Amino acid sequence: MNTAIFAIVAYLIGSISFAVVVSRVVGLSDPRTYGSKNPGATNVLRSGNKGAAIATLIGDAAKGWFAVWLAILLAPKFGVGTAGIALVAIAVFLGHLWPVFFRFVGGKGVATALGVLIGINVWLGLATLATWLAIAYAFRYSSLAALVASIFAPFYYGLLFGINELFFAVLAMSSLLLYRHSQNIANLMAGKESKIGSKSAEAK
Ligand code: G3P
Repeated sequence: MNTAIFAIVAYLIGSISFAVVVSRVVGLSDPRTYGSKNPGATNVLRSGNKGAAIATLIGDAAKGWFAVWLAILLAPKFGVGTAGIALVAIAVFLGHLWPVFFRFVGGKGVATALGVLIGINVWLGLATLATWLAIAYAFRYSSLAALVASIFAPFYYGLLFGINELFFAVLAMSSLLLYRHSQNIANLMAGKESKIGSKSAEAK
């Protein structure tokens, strides 16, 4: 019962789409209407508003971190084990992908996954972030960086902690993240993917 409550709270936290909230607050168009139409930091950056993109990135990562941090903090008190924390990790991620507050139209989960990984273990998060940064620096594609980082994340977890319930949570997040990047993969293969920093004409 407690595990279910933890998971529901995590899903609700994940359902706060910072791309949409921040864009509304600063008077930008809804990111679901321009560029890749993805409510995420990369697409908000296409509006040209770097501050809004950074705020989106921090908000989406912070919610992933917070849900896992809170679950780890409260788990002993409520008798929730590692499997429950793994469920929370997946639930906050699912909230971001299919948010109940935004008609289930959510993002691709990159920033939220990063926050979740940092919540699980800061070195796990930093190793995955370093992978993202290296690929983004080398190729200038946010999506490619996310794809490579998400493939490496389960390996990093396995190397650091072995195979347990949280490993499968990380694997599930990575798989969903790859699935959500189907269009980006098609664009990359067709040479049509937009590079980091290119603006969208439709964004205001
Ligand atoms: O953070 C999402 C990123 O990997 C791709 O975003 O807007 O280019 O589809 P986007």
